[in-house]
Amino acid sequence: MIVRPIGVVDSGLGGLSVWQTLVRHLPEESYLYFGDSGYCPYGSRTVDDILRRVTRIVDFLVEKECKIVVVACNAITAASIDVLRKNYPVPFVGMEPAIKPASIHTRTGVVGVLATERTLKGKPFSDTRSKYAANVQVIEKAANGLVEKVESLDFDSDSTMQLLNRYIQPMLAENIDHLVLGCTHYPFLQASIRKIVGDGVTVVNPAPAVAQRTSVVLGERKLRHATGEPAGRSIFYTTGDTEKMKHMLLSIEAADCEVLPISL
Ligand code: SIN
Repeated sequence: MIVRPIGVVDSGLGGLSVWQTLVRHLPEESYLYFGDSGYCPYGSRTVDDILRRVTRIVDFLVEKECKIVVVACNAITAASIDVLRKNYPVPFVGMEPAIKPASIHTRTGVVGVLATERTLKGKPFSDTRSKYAANVQVIEKAANGLVEKVESLDFDSDSTMQLLNRYIQPMLAENIDHLVLGCTHYPFLQASIRKIVGDGVTVVNPAPAVAQRTSVVLGERKLRHATGEPAGRSIFYTTGDTEKMKHMLLSIEAADCEVLPISL
């Protein structure tokens, strides 16, 4: 029997935070992860540029028989999810901007969003914001430089802390009680973010909602691998440095996975 994997695509290492959550929710599935670190960051790229890259990557994932593609990148979701859904026969699950839970649960009425420029300019973000946060003050910040920090495995140096403080302190001054991580790289900075915001601010990572949605879509399409089957396997492709990806996998306790270089 051919085991068709779940494809996971990101501009680089950040989507590993989503892959990790997917594996927790759907351990019996197999995964094929594509991190485009050689072309990262995507957040400041044009829509056309992102579409060109992502089309090559999705062609590759479809050729490898992926049964669904999880777009584990907010910038790719913002730039291309509608086009991808039109152009390919497989289903796609994209990143949610997560303003909805933050807006529902806020007590102060003020929520912060950290994301890249591409995500903040995108339709998914503006649609969600007008639908769910009409009565909430949303402080959004294009957090330039944070993706690069994660890609260089620098999660807590002085300069990373300075950058985080520059983005988050003005939000704290406005009394946010929720901080939405609108980029899949940022969960790798969560320990540093927690040091800045303390316990009074809920940090919202959309990955569990995306894993839940993936499970529902697989169920609806009858594509789920049977629960209770032995755990699937994951293969990782990167256009960047394989050692960095291995290091990142080690940090999330997934050291024994196969990491392969690829150029597309
Ligand atoms: C980036 O590569 O700049 C963005 C990644 C994301 O939005 O998740």
